[in-house]
Amino acid sequence: MAVQSFHQFGFLYQIMWIHFVLIAVFLAIFWLRNRYSYWEKRGVPYIPASYPLGNLQGLFGQQLSTLTKGFYEKLKGPARKLGGIYFFINPVAIALDLEFVKDILIKDFRYFHDRGLYYNEKDDPLTAHLLTLEGNKWKTLRNKLTPTFTSGKMKTMFPLITSVAEHFQQSLEAAVATGQDIEVKDFLARYTTDVIGTCAFGLECNSLADPKAKFREKGRRAVQQSPIQVIKVFFGLTFGDLARRMHLRVIKKDVSEFFMNAVKQAVEHREHSKEVRNDFMDLLIKLKNTQPIEGENIKQLGPLTLNEIAAQAFVFFVAGFETSSTAMTFCLYELALNEELQEKARQNVLDSLESHGSMTYEAIYDMKYIENCINESLRKYPPITNIFRCVSNNYQVPGSDIVLEKGFRVMVPVYAIHHDPEYYPKPEMYDPERFNPDQANQRHHMAFIPFGDGPRSCIGLRFGMMQARVGMAYLLKNFRFKLASRTCTPLVIDPSSFIMAPKGGLWLQIDKV
Ligand code: HEM
Ligand SMILES: *[C@@H]1O[C@H](CO)[C@@H](O)[C@H](O)[C@H]1NC(C)=O
Repeated sequence: MAVQSFHQFGFLYQIMWIHFVLIAVFLAIFWLRNRYSYWEKRGVPYIPASYPLGNLQGLFGQQLSTLTKGFYEKLKGPARKLGGIYFFINPVAIALDLEFVKDILIKDFRYFHDRGLYYNEKDDPLTAHLLTLEGNKWKTLRNKLTPTFTSGKMKTMFPLITSVAEHFQQSLEAAVATGQDIEVKDFLARYTTDVIGTCAFGLECNSLADPKAKFREKGRRAVQQSPIQVIKVFFGLTFGDLARRMHLRVIKKDVSEFFMNAVKQAVEHREHSKEVRNDFMDLLIKLKNTQPIEGENIKQLGPLTLNEIAAQAFVFFVAGFETSSTAMTFCLYELALNEELQEKARQNVLDSLESHGSMTYEAIYDMKYIENCINESLRKYPPITNIFRCVSNNYQVPGSDIVLEKGFRVMVPVYAIHHDPEYYPKPEMYDPERFNPDQANQRHHMAFIPFGDGPRSCIGLRFGMMQARVGMAYLLKNFRFKLASRTCTPLVIDPSSFIMAPKGGLWLQIDKV
């Protein structure tokens, strides 16, 4: 009797469970279908999504740049400000019109001051930096750091950069002497690593002299993401508060320890030895001790902690070294492809050196054609291919009844805009003349945004441009470049790299001038 009722109960239990699961599946499907009709319901043109990646299934085999360029081209239409796409199950708005880009980045900035990236100040202090912080915290920090990036400060750091560039030239000469083809992407990353290591950490890190140097290794590990890392980052992005409560860390432990120690040691060394180098670290230490930075009133902002300094030095490094080195890599690629342009660029360097006498700050800034070449490379290959903003309050799109809801993400498709024939005729052609004032002044201001724009644009713009200019000037003055036979044209963009990069690096045949 008891056994029978137990069986009966077990049977009922099973039926109940099956119903339960069916209802849950049904609800999930209903919810997802509803979710994937988000844009359709609002009358926004969209790309149909499929479960579970939304519109991201194309990421297998291509980079985010060309994927979003495809969306942009499909969605763009007359007087159309935005289109709708899905990242996983999240609706994301993609800006299609340059006036709307300007609204997002500049005019209506108060709705779009956050990126919605994950950070965890307590458990993963290095993540709490300028790139990720939000709201008032970000604003205070940005105000504190802005004085470290003025053109005056760039000028005082200039000699540090040229001394790295001289080492760079010597180690490239040694490599050229072996007569073999050279992979320049890695070489240039070593140059920018040394520049930022010197200026942000005050280290002579010598990764140029020794490719296996710790700094370079940790830097590489900081930007390389294993699949687990990617899942963690995405989890943090989607469920920020929960992830923080779960103490989720996204920076590898050894990387975190290495940079923390490097900063601690640098600070202790400076405070003991009273050495002054006029670099980022000097300025960060001043902020820590709330000493006035000439011409700036920072007193009311309060001091920075050691952890905060470390996080900023870390982001200067991570945000600065690969972006700048890829900008130079692609510039060299295009100049190696076109001997005439290369000769013109070299002549520009030599002319400026002749009229200024040596590689001074003024000489570098007089090299207008070099600037055009770098900008055209940033146009054709923007290292950061899309800019994201998170909506902080319900935002009504001007001139329409579409409301972007709080917490949703908006994407500015930098790469797609830079390749739009409406702004750049024959977009695949590399043509530095596009940046001559007569052509540049005719374009919409938002048609060239490799550093973003508005209050949240790249704080390192001047620094990044300066190190690229110095690097290109030293290279062109001393070497001639040709594509090596193993380099394929057109270049293949590495689909697995977040920052735009050539697949397999860039191999060049280099000779001394
Ligand atoms: C060619 C070189 C570089 C490129 C193309 C580049 C590009 C960018 C872009 C597109 C953004 C986002 C802008 C936005 O959302 O509107 C950004 C932000 C940022 N970049 Fe750069 N960057 C470069 C070099 C550097 C360097 C050298 C540093 C540091 C020394 C740096 C530090 C930062 C920081 C801290 C942010 C976050 C700013 C904030 O949120 O307030 N970048 N960069
Ligand atoms: C090149 O790009 C930089 C950074 O966006 C900008 O400040 C500069 O004005 C540009 N130069 C020219 C000649 O367009």
